[in-house]
Amino acid sequence: MSFRERALARFPAGSNGEYGIPAELVPVLQRGAGCRVWDTEGREFLDMTMAWGAALVGHAHPKIVEAATRQARAGANFAAVNARAVELAERIHALSPCAEKIRFVASGTEATMLCLRIAQGATNRPKVLKFAGAYHGQHPVGVTSMLAGKPTVLPASDPSGAGAAWVERDVLTAPFNDLVTTEKIIAAHAADLAAVIVEPLHRCITPVAGFLAGLRAATERHRVVLIFDEVVTGFRLALGGAQEYYGVQPDLVAYGKALGGGFPIGAYGGRAELMEVVAESRLPGPHYVWSASTTGGNPVSCAAALATIEVLSERGVYPGFHESGAHLRRAMGGVLVAQSETAQILGDGPLAQVAFSGQPVTDQPSWLASDRARGRALMLALLQAGVFLNPMGTKLYLSLAHDAKVIAKFVQHFADALAATRKSQVGA
Ligand SMILES: Cc1ncc(COP(=O)(O)O)c(C=O)c1O
Repeated sequence: MSFRERALARFPAGSNGEYGIPAELVPVLQRGAGCRVWDTEGREFLDMTMAWGAALVGHAHPKIVEAATRQARAGANFAAVNARAVELAERIHALSPCAEKIRFVASGTEATMLCLRIAQGATNRPKVLKFAGAYHGQHPVGVTSMLAGKPTVLPASDPSGAGAAWVERDVLTAPFNDLVTTEKIIAAHAADLAAVIVEPLHRCITPVAGFLAGLRAATERHRVVLIFDEVVTGFRLALGGAQEYYGVQPDLVAYGKALGGGFPIGAYGGRAELMEVVAESRLPGPHYVWSASTTGGNPVSCAAALATIEVLSERGVYPGFHESGAHLRRAMGGVLVAQSETAQILGDGPLAQVAFSGQPVTDQPSWLASDRARGRALMLALLQAGVFLNPMGTKLYLSLAHDAKVIAKFVQHFADALAATRKSQVGA
């Protein structure tokens, strides 16, 4: 049996989650270096998803491999505070404007989940507000109103999946980039509302001027906790993440992905008085929230994260990310114009996403109105041409290893796949 057959036999849909790749195309990866990955059949792919953004510094970066290997020899996990975890917490505190206190977990999912729980525990209010289309991890609130599920009138929520109808009671959904409506929802539900959670860059949709600052003001006015989910934007838009990049400071922040340099990590932090809600000295008081993670803060992931921050702190890294991202989006936009496509390129920093729509894509309804079937066909054509990406979450992630030559090669693949999928559509 091939690895593909074995994967299809053991994993639902042949994957560990997402992708939704047709069975005959499922690649099983076994090696990565820089911006390239290889599968078990020896095929080389240009990686444009980079572990969904976790490998921002590139696969198998020598400094990260060195730091993690050295630490693994000295013990991989103590499930206790350790030297590398202390150093990393200090480093994050110095970079993240709001993170006075920090705790580590093993994933972005846990980080956002704990932020929400802390807000609920600190305010003693049950409800949270999120934005339509946002993803905050695989817990029930994280996926609420993410898919184009059943039609709802905001702020009503859609569980986006089976078995979690309770979110309809406790989760409010607001339209991203619509401050007036969001302010009204916050004001109307303030007595019950613990937190507003937002991806500052909403999937690949940029916030309109004043939106994040307006959220900050509205949450402050109503004493609601503002949470930035920086699992994607953290250490990517700037070393200080979206807080630094957009100049808005939340009460709590969640990190993951890029921080670990490819190793599993999550971190959450925020104002000391809020973070004290997880202090065991409060146990089992009315304002205590349980927080403990067997693998969170393990010294290998922390050593990898310290090395990652060191690499990202080198001169020119962030101007380079922004230049590469802008160049990629411009070049892809040029291809769309050259092929007379009604589409646009979304994104900021080292991120891009194509949306087949003639209308500006600024929120969930405008994204849902785009031709997503065409987007998926394009992504599958790219995969077949040797570009590794996620045909379900069509965000493209650049890394330190994506230089101008690599980007030019991708853009050529993009142009070819675009033309081929248009022809097959016309022929269909
Ligand atoms: C914005 C955002 N938040 C949270 C998560 C969840 O992170 P993880 O997959 O590490 O649990 C993701 C993952 O894609 C994400 O994009």
